Amino acid sequence: MIIGIGTDITDVNRIEESIEKFGDRFIKKIFTETESEYCESFKLHKGQHYAARFAAKEAFSKAIGTGMREGFAFNLVGVRNMTSGKPIIELTGVMQERWGDCRIHLTLSHSATLAVAMVAIEKD
Ligand SMILES: CC(C)(COP(=O)(O)OP(=O)(O)OC[C@H]1O[C@@H](n2cnc3c(N)ncnc32)[C@H](O)[C@@H]1OP(=O)(O)O)[C@@H](O)C(=O)NCCC(=O)NCCS
Repeated sequence: MIIGIGTDITDVNRIEESIEKFGDRFIKKIFTETESEYCESFKLHKGQHYAARFAAKEAFSKAIGTGMREGFAFNLVGVRNMTSGKPIIELTGVMQERWGDCRIHLTLSHSATLAVAMVAIEKD
């Protein structure tokens, strides 16, 4: 049974500006190591990959229905890419404790200016 869906659109430029302004401090606060390693592995358009992951976190926060409250933290909700390129959500900490028994589906898309994520959460 689907227990929640969430979506988000993130402005790529906004994320690029935050990375430029706050550097590593911003990246470490928001993204997991897996995510920053993945995004930094691209020579071009890193900002699009970071923005897509930001959108995934916001979409997940909507799918669980609490938004940014009740223990939600950006870096407890990460994206990992399978070898096929397909992205999956990886949870840690309190997010893993609360939602780790659910099946979480994620899809991402990005252009030069916008990144989009959609999350669906299933539970038996
Ligand atoms: C998957 C594919 C349809 C993406 O379409 P696109 O128009 O190029 O790019 P979009 O911006 O819409 O989507 C990009 C996102 O698709 C997702 N994606 C990539 N491969 C995927 C797959 N096999 N299944 C589901 N989602 C996938 C990723 O999340 C990617 O963003 P990310 O790299 O930041 O994680 C296209 O790249 C494709 O068919 N690729 C073939 C598989 C491939 O070459 N994989 C490369 C890794 S080995």
